[in-house]
Order: sequence, then structure tokens, then C-alpha cells
Amino acid sequence: MPMANWVQQLEQIVGAEYTLLPGTDDFAKYEQDETEDLRFAPQVVVRPATTEQVRQIVLLANAERLPIVPRGGGTGLSGGALATRGGILLSLERMNRLIEIDERNMFAVVEPGLITQHFEEAVEARGLFYPPDPASRGSCTIGGNVAENAGGPRALKYGVTKDYVCGLKIVTADGKIVSFGGKLLKDVAGYNMVQLFVGSEGKLGIITEITLRLIPLPRFRRTLLAPFDSLQDAAAAVPAIMNQGVVPCALEFMERECLKAIQDHLGRPVRFSERAAVLLIEVDGNHEEALEADMVRIAKALDEYRAADCYVAESAAQQNEIWDIRRAAGEAVKSISAYKEEDTVVPRSRLPELVRGVHEICDRWGLRVICYGHAGDGNIHCNILRAGVSDHLWNEELPAAITEIFRLTVSLGGSISGEHGIGHVQRRYLPLALGPAEIELHRRLKSALDPLGIMNPGKLLPE
Ligand code: LAC
Ligand code: ZN
Repeated sequence: MPMANWVQQLEQIVGAEYTLLPGTDDFAKYEQDETEDLRFAPQVVVRPATTEQVRQIVLLANAERLPIVPRGGGTGLSGGALATRGGILLSLERMNRLIEIDERNMFAVVEPGLITQHFEEAVEARGLFYPPDPASRGSCTIGGNVAENAGGPRALKYGVTKDYVCGLKIVTADGKIVSFGGKLLKDVAGYNMVQLFVGSEGKLGIITEITLRLIPLPRFRRTLLAPFDSLQDAAAAVPAIMNQGVVPCALEFMERECLKAIQDHLGRPVRFSERAAVLLIEVDGNHEEALEADMVRIAKALDEYRAADCYVAESAAQQNEIWDIRRAAGEAVKSISAYKEEDTVVPRSRLPELVRGVHEICDRWGLRVICYGHAGDGNIHCNILRAGVSDHLWNEELPAAITEIFRLTVSLGGSISGEHGIGHVQRRYLPLALGPAEIELHRRLKSALDPLGIMNPGKLLPE
């Protein structure tokens, strides 16, 4: 079959070696992200190197009415980078330069394809700090983090990706290059366009340069694990810790099933895996005495909620060991079977009701669920496992069970995704979180910025 004319044009824009067609060796990885076991093939994968190349690709997509799916590291958990409608998959992986670390002003300018951890390490080598730390930081990209407004454990004290993005260069859906914001902590000239694009899931334009705010790197941190014999006590301890006047930089929750899954996955014993749940708590700062005082206050709340024990890491190696366990949670769940993950988020005082309710709903449906997540943020990842579930329940009835979980979440004052986004897999549930007028406003915004509807179609907004 002759190659479509537009594919040849893509090859002219980025070079044939950076244009992949189905059937080639590297192509398959672009059919997936980290979402469930989903797989969709784009018609072509392109890997541009410059904003100008991105602009030319977008102009071509306009002329040919082709969908464009932007992609960072492909670590998303809501299917935002899946080419569900074919078209052009535009990988930003080659645009991975750390353009500048401006130490005097504490800003950095980066390209979207830069791996988050590489960026964090480069910044830390200068005594500076970029806190957002999604579990996938070793392979996700800053651009993907911005497009999804990624979170992570340190969000509790330091906020999520949006709290650091101060400037963006964007190729609009109709192929113009625009810039908003910059190395400024204050800028109210016009609408808050920077934040409109943060978390827009590749539906409003393509981010090609990012200006990020940095802060000084805290000098010390203390990390502890506290097990509980009751899920409810663990969940209730979370607001109590904060009410001691301490803001930990992480306050994470893992229930027994999660600890056991991690243990199996890592093939080594995991501390407290017989207990009902553990909290992982970390405080950081510049004064060791102040951290000790924080630890005493935390211990008071842990006592009050009947923590069964407390393990304090005594060295950086022990801290890393604790974090390796926590960061393995996602992979560990994935290694059990196919699964669906619901990224529930509620005000933190409602955590006990959320955790209890999710288990009640799953028990009633005969579903096995593993919960863990960012308890301090009220953000719990509820993973429903495929293993042992009938085809009928999985394929036909599961949406009703998930709807119950999300209705519960919303009734507790929460929402249906804290940090993983809506993307492909949660769009049918968006009306549980947003009303018709709110969704209509989304649609109007989308059609104003992308009138042809070519930017990442089939994501975020319901059919
Ligand atoms: C985590 C990812 C799944 O918290 O968000 O491990
Ligand atoms: Zn998470």
C-alpha cells in the first residue's frame, strides 16, 4: 500500500528516523501507557526535536483533520496518552533539555520530555528543590506531569505540579506558538492561562517549554512507619497528626493487602505486613531540633489512635528502604492481575468513611480491592483486581460498582480523581463529579481553543 502523503510530509518535518510506522520494532511501546492492560495503535508515531517541528506537525494535522495525541513518558494511569482514535502520536521524548537553572531567581526552564527525576537531581545538586514526586518519577516527564497536574507524596506540604508552573510555551491546536507567564511569582496580566493548560490532558495545546519555580532544599528529614491494628484508627490518625500543628512532607497510607502485595513483588519481607495498615510519615526542615519536636507531636497523635508500634529510620539507607517499599505499590498491584484503579479523593477528615465505604462496596460486589495512597491529601488509590472475578462481573457490572465508589466519594465532599486524571478510562464517570453546566463550560472552552477537535480526542469529556 502506498504511504499516505501526510506520512511523507511528517517524515520531511522530523526526519524518517523519527517517524515510526506500525510493525516497526519500537512502535509497540507507543500503543500503551501504564493504564490497565489497554492497547491502541496510532497510525504513526512522530518524535519532534523542536517547537517549530511541533508547530508544523500540528498544521499538518489541521489540514488532514488528524487526531494528535501528545505523550511524555507514557506512565499515565488514566489512558491520556493512548491513541484511542488512531492518528498521530506525538512523543515529546526528544525535547528533553534542561535549558536553564536560574539559581539567583530560583527558577528553571525545561523542555517537556525531561525525566522528572533527572530534573530533581540536577536541581538538588545546586541546593535547590523541585518537590513534586510522582511514584513514576524515574520514567515520567515534566511535560506529562504538567499536562496531568501530577501529584505525589510530597504534595501534602509542598503542593502538586501546578504550584510550581509559572510559565509555558505552547503550540496551540491551530498551530500558533504562544507563551504565557515566566520567571515571575506574580503576574496578573490577562487570564490565568498558564494554569488553564496545567492538567488539560493534552486537549488544549502542546506544551513545548516550561518555567518552574524552585525552593531551597530542606537540609534534614525524618521518616517513620507506624502500624495499626484497625484501618479506621489509621485513617482517623491522619487529621489528628495535622491537628498537632505539624505539616509532614508525606503522610502515606498502605493497608495490609498492599503491604503483602509489595512483599510478594519484591520477594523480601516488608515490615508490619501483618498489621491492618501502616502510615508512612516524613517531616523535613532545616533544624534538627524542630524535626524532633515534630516527631514528638506526631507520636502523641499516633498514641491517641492506638498505633501498635513505631519504626523510625535511622539513616538515609533506611529512609530509602521505606520509600522503595512505598514506591513499589503500583507495580506490586499490577503484578497480581489486571486491575482498575479509582483515584478517590476526599477532605482528609472523611478518610475513615471512605476507606470503610470502599471496602463495604467491594465486599458486597464480591470484588477484591487494595487501597493505598496519599492519606494526608485525602487521596486514596483503590485498586480493584481482575483475578478471581467472573467475566460477567468484570465486563458488565463493574461500572455500577465503580459508580457506587465515586458516588460515595462525591457524597463525602470529594472528587473522582486526585492526581491520575480523567483521560480515557474515567470520562464516563465525569458527570458524577461535575454537573451539566460545569461540563458545558468545559466543552465551550475546548471548542474555543480547539475548534476542529483534533487535540487528544476521546479523553476527559464524556461522549
Ligand atoms: C502512587 C501512584 C500510583 O501513589 O500515584 O504510587
Ligand atoms: Zn499516587
